[in-house]
Amino acid sequence: EKVVLAYSGGLDTTAIIPWLKENFGYDVICVCVDCGQEEELDGLDERARKSGAAKLYIEDIVDDLCDNFIMPCVEAGAVYEHKYLLGTSMARPAIVKKLVEIARKENAVAICHGATGKGNDQIRFELGIKALAPDLKIIAPWRMTDLWKMDSRQAEIDYCRAHGIDLPFSMGKGYSRDRNIWHISHEGLELEDPSQEPNYDELLVLTVPPEKAPDEETEISITFEQGIPKTLNGKAMKVSDIIRELNVLGGKNGIGIVDIVENRVVGMKSRGVYETPGGTILMAAHDQLEELCLDRETMETKKKLGSQMAQVVYEGKWFTPLREAMQAFVESTQKYVTGEAKMKLYKGNIIKAGTTSPYSLYNESLASFTTGDLYDHHDADGFITLFGLPLKVRAMKLREVEQK
Ligand code: ARG
Ligand code: SIN
Repeated sequence: EKVVLAYSGGLDTTAIIPWLKENFGYDVICVCVDCGQEEELDGLDERARKSGAAKLYIEDIVDDLCDNFIMPCVEAGAVYEHKYLLGTSMARPAIVKKLVEIARKENAVAICHGATGKGNDQIRFELGIKALAPDLKIIAPWRMTDLWKMDSRQAEIDYCRAHGIDLPFSMGKGYSRDRNIWHISHEGLELEDPSQEPNYDELLVLTVPPEKAPDEETEISITFEQGIPKTLNGKAMKVSDIIRELNVLGGKNGIGIVDIVENRVVGMKSRGVYETPGGTILMAAHDQLEELCLDRETMETKKKLGSQMAQVVYEGKWFTPLREAMQAFVESTQKYVTGEAKMKLYKGNIIKAGTTSPYSLYNESLASFTTGDLYDHHDADGFITLFGLPLKVRAMKLREVEQK
């Protein structure tokens, strides 16, 4: 029988290979899903085989992640607890989709992941697997404390050695990180104490601290068609390339660094730092354009829905009818979100530099102070009388009561 293992080549997922063979007798099919983490993939095949894997798949899902997971969240304006752009949360269901696809191809009976028992990722992996492949067994070694005895990196290395696996592993007592094309997250070390300032010089990977960004601004322009970015600085590009390029431009200008104490699904608060340079710009540009293209009530409804959808995505409920319905609503609002957002990037700030749309609802002659055909000042008389009626009725009543 076969098990599909979500594999990174790191120490944790390497130690899982002999552990799965020893405890379950499975053939281990390793799957390394490339979400744009920019890790060295050369030599991974040899590494997996030396660790006893029957097979290694390396699967690039960057475009699927961008088009079908990230963009729906950008269009929705989905931001968790007002700050977190969901970089890890969106990637997990995209990874699960690939793991299940390979499990089917290989006729595997189980999927194994290396997420800890304290976090959100275990939930996202497992809800995804349940939704897509309810028949597959799920193995979460870190929660199987009667079988998984390794409680430190050294213990994992010793276990690997005892099973004939002698590979170089970084001994690094570093941050716990998760990187993909959209973001990098950092947890652990000094961040575990919220009274401590993050050690940005050590920590930042994609960005520079704003104070170290150039003294000159970077001007950019992004065009959208029906909510989807199509060009950056006049050049047509696919979404993943736009995000990559924006990461470079945003990173250089110190954009998109977030330091947050967030509420995990499992009940605890956790402190993390995220770098989402390109994503922060893309969401701001999309927002800038929507200001012109959406009517007030649609925008308001969409705002509320966006934060609800963020919660749904954060909680790992991607493959649910609720998320699908939310996404369908959002997509229908995007029909006229077409146009150009210009902005300047400067020391951590995104400064608007003009917005245009063929569907702009902004009407200059209406907004300016001259009287035109569309707006007659006298119409405001009756409008205000009715609009203010409940206030007036209440004030009259209070007076009447108080005078008794
Ligand atoms: N706290 C973030 C989230 O729940 C990031 C998790 C990072 N995951 C990781 N395995 N390092 O989405
Ligand atoms: C983990 O526990 O594997 C990382 C943190 C998280 O999932 O929230």
